[in-house]
Amino acid sequence: MWSQESKTLRRDADGATPGDTPSSSFHEPDHVRSHMISAPTTPGATASLSLAQAVERSLTGSQLLSAADLFAFAADAYGGTLAEAAFTPRDAYDAAELGLHLHLLHTIGRLPAEPDAARDTLAEVERLSALLPSQTRRTAEQNDYQQFSTPAAYAGLCAWVSGVGARGDRVLEPSAGTGALCTFALASGATVHANELSDRRADLLAVLLEEAGQDPDQTLTRENADHLDAILPPSVRADVVLLNPPFSQTAGRLGRRRVVTVGTDHVLQTLRRLDPGGRLVAVLLAVRAGRTDLSDDYHGYASCPLVTGYGRLILAEFDYDGNVDSSFPFDTSKERYSMYVLKKDLLPNLYWHGMLQGRA
Ligand SMILES: C[S@@+](CC[C@H](N)C(=O)[O-])C[C@H]1O[C@@H](n2cnc3c(N)ncnc32)[C@H](O)[C@@H]1O
Repeated sequence: MWSQESKTLRRDADGATPGDTPSSSFHEPDHVRSHMISAPTTPGATASLSLAQAVERSLTGSQLLSAADLFAFAADAYGGTLAEAAFTPRDAYDAAELGLHLHLLHTIGRLPAEPDAARDTLAEVERLSALLPSQTRRTAEQNDYQQFSTPAAYAGLCAWVSGVGARGDRVLEPSAGTGALCTFALASGATVHANELSDRRADLLAVLLEEAGQDPDQTLTRENADHLDAILPPSVRADVVLLNPPFSQTAGRLGRRRVVTVGTDHVLQTLRRLDPGGRLVAVLLAVRAGRTDLSDDYHGYASCPLVTGYGRLILAEFDYDGNVDSSFPFDTSKERYSMYVLKKDLLPNLYWHGMLQGRA
């Protein structure tokens, strides 16, 4: 079985026997267990764990790992080379991330509350992350599922901002990837419920959760987070939600379209599981795009197209206070043919072919 196997492998790496698994605050009755499958469901799972352990050993020795080193370790673990398609670059990168997360879980503990001390700890996390090779090769699954992990130091910062680690904190991560955010929550002693749609990645998360003393049969789900609130057992509640969701694509189901509400859907779903007084920290699009000025305000702009005759329209544009707030360099409060065309032809096109397709 997976859990026995992973424990055996872990003993090989650490020379230590894992501790007892504490009972989980997410304990589920039998009828909902079908959601929670922790046994590996992907063929390379054991090899990925073995590679993660090799990476963890390398990090423990503070060794710089080049891409060539990583792929050589991977060839040993998967029993064949990249050229032979024994593994994909994503397999190797994800296993490397798991190796880093395991190392952090074993070494970092709860981040200090004091900002300077927390900064020092996160600097150490950055130093360790920099020992791993850059991820320069993409796969189709990575693009379809938006598998772009939170850099470990950012994940630590999110955990720190959330204040996770108070006694008994229950954390929910709806699209947990290889567990960057989970790692810091687990290291702080919280109980984490991780969800991840990709079975390949969920198999890695199972290792991380188990290593932290959790039972993945109880605290790992592999569901579509677009509908998480409708799917998870009612007892899965959270004091803290940490997430960095896919921003504009959900498991390739949108084809080539990019729909920017995908990430916010995951936020809304998890908000429904947050208990009163809880905290939610999310990495979302504007921040990811490097935008630092998040102080934009909505002043109540509204526009009201008034058709005054055939080929004539007044575009009434105003703000909360009733002031004229024109988007055009001319007076839109006068009847105009151009505004009529805007309303009749341009805006419907923008709506149906731009906004609803996620292009505008
Ligand atoms: C941007 S990555 C972030 C992973 C992780 N939260 C982190 O911070 O590193 C998004 C993750 O969401 C997963 N994913 C994509 N669509 C999903 C969906 N509809 N439901 C749940 N997980 C999904 C991907 O496989 C990927 O692991």
